[in-house]
Amino acid sequence: MSQARVTIADLRVKKETGRKITMMTAYDYPSARLVDQAGIDTILVGDSLGMVVLGYPSTVPVTMDEMIHHCKAVCRGAGRAFVIGDLPFMSYQVSAEKAVENAGRFVKEAGCDAVKLEGGTEMAPVVKAIVKAGIPVCAHIGLTPQTATMLSGFKVQGKDAEGARDLIRSAKALEEAGAFMIVIECIPDVLGGKITAELAIPTIGIGAGKDCDGQVLVYHDLVGLFDRFTPKFVKRYASLGPLIKAALEEYKLEVESGKFPGPEHVFPMKPEEAEKL
Ligand code: KIV
Repeated sequence: MSQARVTIADLRVKKETGRKITMMTAYDYPSARLVDQAGIDTILVGDSLGMVVLGYPSTVPVTMDEMIHHCKAVCRGAGRAFVIGDLPFMSYQVSAEKAVENAGRFVKEAGCDAVKLEGGTEMAPVVKAIVKAGIPVCAHIGLTPQTATMLSGFKVQGKDAEGARDLIRSAKALEEAGAFMIVIECIPDVLGGKITAELAIPTIGIGAGKDCDGQVLVYHDLVGLFDRFTPKFVKRYASLGPLIKAALEEYKLEVESGKFPGPEHVFPMKPEEAEKL
């Protein structure tokens, strides 16, 4: 029997009772199934797929259609996990109306439970509009990869008191606007703890220290399938890349040498039928 899907209320209870929330990215049906079977609470179909799956240099080129395509596959693979789709760059910045329309596609077409968007206080009206339309929003502050150029690169955010206060203000404004959860990326751990303590909604850290209410990592970083670069906050739990490469090399050798396919992989024909050929 399949387990009931994780709800926003379940996530809130986890924060209130001090139990950590787990989030993992997934971008397709098999990875969604594995994440779900591992009992992870929430799946984020992050626009990081642009880099780790589609080979773009950043998340900026990712389109709505690409996100919807991957979200559909993930939603088919997820059972218990709460699925969050990432609004790509320029799908929510132009106007609140466009943001609501695009957020709606994640829920109606792909079957996601919620959407995520990047940005601080300036995004509060957009969060409000999407939530008013009945779509739960997870906010994302700190290092926001879609606008990394504005931040002068992929750098730790909120390192001085002024920057930190600004992030605390943003977190509160996004909570006030109706966000049900907030991802905090690449900030000092002390600040991660402070924001977490000041909010009623759960915080999910990625490079924001252990005092956040939960943690998220990118699937391909965790299993060792992406080696273009590895941020300091990543912990690699497996190195699948070399294992897969070795399997592919063995397959190539066996095909070339005639070892594969073996007798156990073929479909026999009755000799009397074969004779007629
Ligand atoms: O796109 C993504 O995968 C993300 C996570 C790194 C939080 O935004």
